[in-house]
Amino acid sequence: MGTMKLRNYHRRTPEQVLRAVEVFRLYHDLLHEQVQKGNIKSSVDRGAFTRPQEVLSDEILDLLGKDRRSNSYAYGPEKGDFDVRGKIADLENTKHGTSYTPDQVAMMPGAWAGLEFVLQEVVGLQRGKLSKREIAVIGPTLYQMFHSPIHYLGMNIIAYDFTVLEKSSVPSKEDIDEILDNNPKAIVISNPNNPDGKYISNNVLKHTIERCEEQNTSVIIDEMQNCFPTTEIDELRYGEWIQKPHVIRVDSASKRYALAEYRVGWVIADESVLGDRVHGIVGRMSGIMGNAPRAANTALMRIMQYELDKIDREYDFLKESKKELLQKEKYVLKRLEDIPRVKRIIARDACINLTFQVDYPGTDLDLAIDLMDKGTLIMPACGYGYDAKDVVMRFTFAERYGKLEQALDCLENVLT
Ligand SMILES: Cc1ncc(COP(=O)(O)O)c(C=O)c1O
Repeated sequence: MGTMKLRNYHRRTPEQVLRAVEVFRLYHDLLHEQVQKGNIKSSVDRGAFTRPQEVLSDEILDLLGKDRRSNSYAYGPEKGDFDVRGKIADLENTKHGTSYTPDQVAMMPGAWAGLEFVLQEVVGLQRGKLSKREIAVIGPTLYQMFHSPIHYLGMNIIAYDFTVLEKSSVPSKEDIDEILDNNPKAIVISNPNNPDGKYISNNVLKHTIERCEEQNTSVIIDEMQNCFPTTEIDELRYGEWIQKPHVIRVDSASKRYALAEYRVGWVIADESVLGDRVHGIVGRMSGIMGNAPRAANTALMRIMQYELDKIDREYDFLKESKKELLQKEKYVLKRLEDIPRVKRIIARDACINLTFQVDYPGTDLDLAIDLMDKGTLIMPACGYGYDAKDVVMRFTFAERYGKLEQALDCLENVLT
């Protein structure tokens, strides 16, 4: 007679596993509440056997910021450091007259990742199923960001590239209406766009938001390139109309503060859309941490305070760097204007790129390869939605003079 063999393991159904995760989420929700209230005196639910103060020199610790607050969630999918989120909300509210709370801000490992998680959320990606309603992307923008959503996840992403060289590179109300007539699930707008650095006008954006509300379309705004506006143009200023449950905003410190390697970004959205450890945009972070390293959080807190001071006292902490950048831009512009085969320079509103069209018998990539062969990298703009045959290139002028000079000499060389 056979006896039942005891197994060395439990067999859990997927549903059981999910239930265990749900308990884990509840646990975290409860503990965050307690931490916010200051009720936790010691936590032994996670740990590491050395601490930064034991393994890093004083000099490095000073740079990192020595204090770690108890409400800085740093492991797993969480909304991120509470105080940093609060500062971001503060600054947003001061700029736009909104009333965001820290709970409407979640830290992300960069704007790109933030956008991907937002897209997954708006198409309702769950267990391999997702809405096949179109996602309308207003280009030009960085199309690499949509590769994984299309290629791996099967999202129905349709690009609307405003890259006809004789025309405006941002949509008008009528253009938006036409695009929204297709009833997309979401519309993605980079404000300003990349590579042109053109802002969509507040009028058109407000109209888009109003129309999308009527037809149940999400509006996703990527503001990551919002930096270094030309002197005639103001930085982004919306009104309280920007704060709507169907509007999701993505941003990061990568370009504006040259902190790309910190991988620190954020999403501003309604709490219900942001979710928690196992729901919504935050849940989709999965094993990737949104909360930045302590050094990045310390830097961000300081930067946000500088930004607030700038509005208060009208003193720009980046004044000197901007002055230098402006001179570099002027230098690059002048040199580009002197190259006869540079046919068109697209005036920017913001960002640190100059976009220009070249008279060249090939594609933008052919030209890029030609330049590369001679030791210079200039970005072909087809990856941003430009027609490769239009030979549009993107030149970032935030570089050392020596490098700018080398690149421009090289371009001149290739084109003569
Ligand atoms: C429009 C736009 N969004 C996001 C990113 C990437 O941002 P991050 O470095 O914060 O992931 C880029 C990078 O160039 C970009 O152009």
